[in-house]
Amino acid sequence: MCGIIGYCGLSQAAPVLVKGLRRLEYRGYDSYGIAVSNRDIAVSKRQGKVSEGERDARSIRGKIGIGHTRWATHGVPNDRNAHPHTDCRGDIAIVHNGIIENYAALKRDLLERGHTFRSDTDSEVISHLIEEHYTGDLMKAVEDALPLLEGSYAILAIARGEKRIVAARQSSPLVIGMGDQEVFAASDMTPILEYTERAVFLEDGDIASLDPRGVVIRNSGRVVVRPTELIDWSFDDVKKGGFRHYMEKEIYEQPEVFSNTLRTLKREEVPKWLRKVKRISIVSCGTSFHSGLLFKYLLEEICRIPARLEFASEFKYFPPPLSELVVGITQSGETADTIAAIKVAKSYNCPTLAVTNVLGSSITRIADHTFYTQAGPEISVAATKSFIAQLAVLMHIVDELSGGTLTESLERANRAIEETLLLDMERAVACCQDAAHIFFVGRGPLYPVALEGALKMKEISYIHAEGYAAGEIKHGPFALLSEETPVIALCTPGPTYNVMISNIREMKARGTPMIILGEDGDWDLEEIADVFISLPSHDLVTRILAATVALQLLAYHTAEALGRDIDKPRNLAKSVTVE
Ligand code: AGP
Repeated sequence: MCGIIGYCGLSQAAPVLVKGLRRLEYRGYDSYGIAVSNRDIAVSKRQGKVSEGERDARSIRGKIGIGHTRWATHGVPNDRNAHPHTDCRGDIAIVHNGIIENYAALKRDLLERGHTFRSDTDSEVISHLIEEHYTGDLMKAVEDALPLLEGSYAILAIARGEKRIVAARQSSPLVIGMGDQEVFAASDMTPILEYTERAVFLEDGDIASLDPRGVVIRNSGRVVVRPTELIDWSFDDVKKGGFRHYMEKEIYEQPEVFSNTLRTLKREEVPKWLRKVKRISIVSCGTSFHSGLLFKYLLEEICRIPARLEFASEFKYFPPPLSELVVGITQSGETADTIAAIKVAKSYNCPTLAVTNVLGSSITRIADHTFYTQAGPEISVAATKSFIAQLAVLMHIVDELSGGTLTESLERANRAIEETLLLDMERAVACCQDAAHIFFVGRGPLYPVALEGALKMKEISYIHAEGYAAGEIKHGPFALLSEETPVIALCTPGPTYNVMISNIREMKARGTPMIILGEDGDWDLEEIADVFISLPSHDLVTRILAATVALQLLAYHTAEALGRDIDKPRNLAKSVTVE
């Protein structure tokens, strides 16, 4: 969702801001803008892609500036509603991520007091409130204005004649990059990585003054010190490196991501209390929900630990009776629903555990303990390597809690992912690319994989795809089967193998084109299948991983054949920071 970038230093700000906005594009946006302070504050903003108006924006001169990519929530996407927003005189400019819940009442009062609004956004109230409190000290004005706001925000503000940026955070991420005589601020590290690896993560309630000499942070009226952390992601990690899309690059990084994550985890102690848990609740969204479903399956099947899985968005409003460990799984660490669910768990005094990919992200500041996935920055909106890395963490936990049942399989897993990446998807793509609907079916641990395969397919190819537990297909969806509706069936050895074959035959009898993912040498399946994809798997762990990667490839190549905007699918944001 919205992205923020700020620069204050010895170089021209506009080129740094524009480049930063390009790096933030992956979060999803519909309009963008920058404001640069020189003698006056110059603003350039518009609806559309950064590349379309980049030249105008770059030409603005000045060494202090703020920029924003907007994902519309209040007010349609257009030039006027794009950020930055200014006060009545154009002396103060702000960019804002989050939602100001009481903006309507604030706006009504500000209008009554004579302020002129130029947009339909909730954010514009912030620049006018700062204006009302401004007496030549931007930091003080922001400190005085913020208590009036209800909701979530990451804000950057500049004022004419002041050689600094003021930043503030409440429930919306904001990181400061510490350079050499220059300082950056952003929603995440991706636009900062090429300048510095030193980062300071602001906490809720922090208000910071940033200038080339350094940063002063205040919280509740007092100066506070936040640690400077070294971020070991490199700038190369956020480049495409010869691949056509970030998604393709990220799919091919998975063998390394899986083994790096496991290697890092092996150096960490599993907390003692985790070994004693009797029940676990899991909260997450989207792809992270699917890794949660696999975790539930493995915990119950292998560790015999009862586990409950909830959509984070439901859990917040309808929390079940709780006393157990609550695990929040989130790639970004910023998904508003997952953060809210973990806060609810804490309000019940439940121990909490985060599984996330982003150092210093919001969830790591709330949860009692964090396990990090080592996926590196994931730029493509569609989650791939972060899912595989989540599985590495979750399978590692299961392995630890079950006395090493998965150790050998986990060691072989890397190889299986590598071999899966060599699979040829051409015939399967040909079968899918003209379909209006596709079903993905699996059973047991391959049911979450089917759900994830369907999610990948729909989000990047725009083909309507549904994941089903194969046994459920007969309870309604059967009515939709036809020669035009391919079914992707995951069928590997295990307790449901025979019943799965029966399901496949029943579907086949309706004329449905069957793409079957099974194991090498399964002649029966090959005979039934219209397209057979042979997975290089031999146990539970490698079946889950190989099937996942194969379905990622199928979605990717189908979307590519259809000419879709693979890394930035329409209407989607990488990180959903509003509920
Ligand atoms: C997956 O491809 C999607 N981009 C989406 O479902 C994502 O997994 C979901 O929004 C959760 O994000 P998180 O892991 O950062 O919390």
